[in-house]
Amino acid sequence: MQICHTIREFREARAVLTRSGKTLGLVPTMGALHEGHLSLVRSAASECDAVAITIFVNPTQFAPGEDFDRYPRTFEADLALLQSENVALVFAPSPAEMYPPSAPQVIVDIPEIGARLDGASRPGHFRGVATVVSKLFNITTPDRAYFGQKDAAQVAVLRAMVRALDTPVDVRVCPTVRDVDGLALSSRNRYLSALERTQALALPRILESVAERITPGSDLAMLRASLAAKLNAADGFTLDYAAIVHPDTLLPISSLDEGALIAAAVHVGKTRLIDNIVLTPV
Ligand code: PAJ
Repeated sequence: MQICHTIREFREARAVLTRSGKTLGLVPTMGALHEGHLSLVRSAASECDAVAITIFVNPTQFAPGEDFDRYPRTFEADLALLQSENVALVFAPSPAEMYPPSAPQVIVDIPEIGARLDGASRPGHFRGVATVVSKLFNITTPDRAYFGQKDAAQVAVLRAMVRALDTPVDVRVCPTVRDVDGLALSSRNRYLSALERTQALALPRILESVAERITPGSDLAMLRASLAAKLNAADGFTLDYAAIVHPDTLLPISSLDEGALIAAAVHVGKTRLIDNIVLTPV
């Protein structure tokens, strides 16, 4: 496993893979790695000749006042976890390497989809995500890139971005990995106190209870309202959003013809948690 901190180092290592005709799978992350990230690495390893992971806490996707400064940075522990995985390259640049003060400003924006769900609650967030992922694609030139269903709105934004920019990268989406009790793994779960960790369990449970009630004849507006009411009533929760939307456009749907994304974000104490369930078309 080779660790690269600069774009030049990474490109040299990438060129060796290219010369030997190897396909590359990319797993972009912000570190603080857990089994969710590792599941992406394993999917990449099963479909590509070589895997690269990026570890970069991207400042441009955090708004002032969000958790950029306290976001967990556990680089040595991350490398230890990756040692037992099939990873050829780690790209861990500094903020100055990714955004040199002398470089011209650029923003990649998907204005409509990027302003829905998390994009509505966190204005500018998906501009930061789309910009950094575009740069990471240009630096690493992967054949495929792996993202988690856990961040469903991010998936919709990045799929739209790749389509709009004709980026020659196959975006692959992997299922959400959960703890045994159902809570979706997240680097931010480590912010939760023991009480908040117990309260957080209501998020997957409520999403599941609503998903179970959905049938082709369901009144989706009523279910949407019921989802919001249940989340609002759960101990310790402050509701951010509750949505039943199209998985690609993130717009509210009135039928299940093209599938459905049941998604929510809540605050538990100081921690913002998101989760979702995808229903395939019926
Ligand atoms: P990060 O939150 O570190 O997540 C990196 C990748 O891991 C994302 O694709 C995310 O959806 C996936 N992931 C996180 N938790 C998961 C889980 N429980 N199950 C499955 N996959 C999971 O998402 C980002 O970083 C950043 O926005 C990034 C795309 C790297 C751009 O900075």
